[in-house]
Amino acid sequence: MFWCRFADPTRWDQAIATLSDGNQAWAKAAPLLILALAADAFQRDLKPNRWGQYDTGGATMNLCLQATALGLMVHQMGGFDPRKAQENFSLPGGFTPMAMIAIGYQLPQEAIPEALKEREHAPRMRRPLGETFFYGRWGEAIIDPACE
Ligand SMILES: Cc1cc2nc3c(=O)[nH]c(=O)nc-3n(C[C@H](O)[C@H](O)[C@H](O)COP(=O)(O)O)c2cc1C
Repeated sequence: MFWCRFADPTRWDQAIATLSDGNQAWAKAAPLLILALAADAFQRDLKPNRWGQYDTGGATMNLCLQATALGLMVHQMGGFDPRKAQENFSLPGGFTPMAMIAIGYQLPQEAIPEALKEREHAPRMRRPLGETFFYGRWGEAIIDPACE
């Protein structure tokens, strides 16, 4: 589900209030917030769906890629209070709130608050692939140096 800052400021404020303080500081300037939820059970027979969270992550990643391709900025957040979201927005049982996602436009450099500038310009660090991707046996790092 989603909220638009300009369409419904009251609901928007409630959505922002579910975020951690650190996320509120910058996300409140975005025009759009999305809450991605995973279905805990298949809708057809209500049997447990152990792929629900995997599906939601995949769908969300596609959303991120499409938004980026359209020239938008996307920022996913785990830092929110799912219980507050449940209360504020009457979320039903059987769905696990996974992530809030802010979508908007890149601010001009001069409009970025000083406190956020350092993070905005910090080099994007990635762990070596071998810490996460294994070959043949759990814990054995992939060995293709071209992948490092
Ligand atoms: C599941 C998940 C939860 C995240 N939670 C937060 C968060 O609460 N606040 C935040 O600022 N970034 C959070 N991040 C990180 C950002 O979404 C983003 O990945 C990070 O800023 C690095 O951006 P980059 O991959 O474009 O370099 C989260 C990322 C993921 C995948």
